[in-house]
Amino acid sequence: MSFTKTGLVGHPVSHSKSPMIHGHWIKHYGLSGSYELVDLSCEGLADGIRTLKASGFKGFNVTVPHKVDVMALCDHVDDLARIVGAVNTVTIKDGALHGTNTDVFGFIENLKSHAPDFDFKAGPAVVLGAGGAARAVVQGLLQEGVPEIWLSNRTPEKADALIASASLKDRIKRLGWNSAEGIKALSQANLVVNTTSLGMTGKPALTLSLEGLSPKALVHDIVYAPLMTPLLLEAQAQGNRTVTGIGMLLHQARPGFALWHGVMPEVTDELTKMVGG
Ligand code: ATR
Repeated sequence: MSFTKTGLVGHPVSHSKSPMIHGHWIKHYGLSGSYELVDLSCEGLADGIRTLKASGFKGFNVTVPHKVDVMALCDHVDDLARIVGAVNTVTIKDGALHGTNTDVFGFIENLKSHAPDFDFKAGPAVVLGAGGAARAVVQGLLQEGVPEIWLSNRTPEKADALIASASLKDRIKRLGWNSAEGIKALSQANLVVNTTSLGMTGKPALTLSLEGLSPKALVHDIVYAPLMTPLLLEAQAQGNRTVTGIGMLLHQARPGFALWHGVMPEVTDELTKMVGG
């Protein structure tokens, strides 16, 4: 069996849980390989990736702050990554770099695995934030047939730019941040997703009152540290169903592992517990 070298490129990367996830799967499936952390500055990205290629890497994941810049260094970028505007998974084949985005898959699979009966088509979704994560979330929701997406971001220009580059843009509407129309939207929402960094350990909490939230709305936070964010705790206290974000990290790792090792790995309870879920 050949040894498969893979890893994660980012800055910083030392906190990443990805080596634990890939290491677990390599062992579990009896494979031979490694998953290394590769800390590269923005200036060092191109040279660093050339070194990975020269040292026989089969592929690598890409995280903050390189998910956009790495696109220009890839020989091929697939349609999904182009729509999302970011590459988080690269496969090296015959010396060429192939970029894709698995965050869309990760977000949707996590939601489906926690709420298998959730009907995406049953009503509108409120999405908070318009950064890189929001782009993947919006694309996933459109693919699943969500009839309308109401997008709310502190910086309205970023929400407008996201809408302008999205497929099916007529299904997305921008709402003001902390606005009256936003509060009204919550009363009609089938799903609420926080994609901002608010609520993360060390960051302020999201100041969003869920008072008028529809009792049937599912609330999903993609922040996973802490696992139960203030938003999820408030939703739970109101009796709404909630989905935590740790599973998105686990599920987004699966397609890359499959591309590099030829095995589509499973997310088990044991693995979820290992990463703090
Ligand atoms: P990611 O790739 O994780 O989405 P990002 O692209 O930096 O990261 O996006 C962070 C998101 O969190 C943005 O929607 C950002 O809002 P702005 O576009 O207005 O910057 C949002 N965000 C971060 N800090 C925030 C704060 N204090 N209040 C409101 N929104 C915040």
